Amino acid sequence: MRSGKTERLAADADGIARAAALLLDGRRVAFPTETVYGLGADARNATAVAGIFEAKGRPSFNPLIVHVASLTQAQEIAEIGGDAARLAEAFWPGPLTLVLPRKAGSGIAGIATAGLETVALRVPEMELAQDLLTAFGGPVAAPSANPSGRVSATTADHVIDGLEGRIAAVLDGGPCPVGLESTIVGFVDGKAVLLRPGGVPVEAIEACLGYALTTPATDPDAPTSPGQLLSHYAPNARLRLGAVAAEPGEFMIGFGCVPGDVTLSASGDLTEAAARLFELLRMLDDDHITAAAVAPIPQTGLGLAINDRLRRAAAPRD
Ligand code: TXA
Ligand code: MG
Repeated sequence: MRSGKTERLAADADGIARAAALLLDGRRVAFPTETVYGLGADARNATAVAGIFEAKGRPSFNPLIVHVASLTQAQEIAEIGGDAARLAEAFWPGPLTLVLPRKAGSGIAGIATAGLETVALRVPEMELAQDLLTAFGGPVAAPSANPSGRVSATTADHVIDGLEGRIAAVLDGGPCPVGLESTIVGFVDGKAVLLRPGGVPVEAIEACLGYALTTPATDPDAPTSPGQLLSHYAPNARLRLGAVAAEPGEFMIGFGCVPGDVTLSASGDLTEAAARLFELLRMLDDDHITAAAVAPIPQTGLGLAINDRLRRAAAPRD
């Protein structure tokens, strides 16, 4: 996606106001946090979030970290109790991300959490990030601001190097003080587990909780990205891929010139399709739908990630 020249915004009131306005307008804006630069979009706007994956050239939809200005805002989005509340109080704002049960009606777009029931939340500490989140007034989904497969960006120059022309703007706050991504903690039966080591030392978390953190067991052959540790959302209905027409009894999801009961994008637009994907998959849990089919999606651009996700949703399961 080429969106013209990427604006470099100064770390002042005008720059913050411009960055917030661009986010409200559904555009992508990179911004500094104490850990690394994030590639931000309005987490409530599915199309805006789809543009993050497009800009990064990600071949699959990883769930993203949702950034908010305060614990109070975080509580509007997720259930924060027990050990999660203790960690939030001890380490927010700061380089800690908590994976928490998402509240119904949180307003977070399905694509931001890759359809999971959980949401990764973080309250960053850097003043400029705080100012931007406060000016914007809502949740900002942001992975690290680097193209897929490259190292995280810790200066505005790194961001421009990797994403020039692919995002609307970068808010230049100088180098990130921590320079390493946030520590990610999830919860299993209410007990904290370490999903990714990062800016907050594990020892500090253990001292706060009074017990040692474990790492969830994984298949040694499986990829170790935190997003892949959790089984992805799979719809109840059986799903047939690459269908040009529905068979009897099938609920049809169209794309482009292939019509359906619903469509990922009537105009064949892959960004629109990505934005709708997770809400449509969720529809397949409706009791009345036992079998569904989806039209072929081109294997280019965001189509790679859409097809990857559809294959997982269609995979046989026990
Ligand atoms: O410091 C950071 O964490 C930076 C700044 C920008 O906040 N962000 C960052 O985002 O590193 P990203 O997308 O590069 O890494 C986020 C990780 C991914 O590996 C993703 O799979 C995991 O968080 N994640 C997000 N939501 C999750 C969820 N609901 N369950 C498990 N893992 C999740
Ligand atoms: Mg990253």
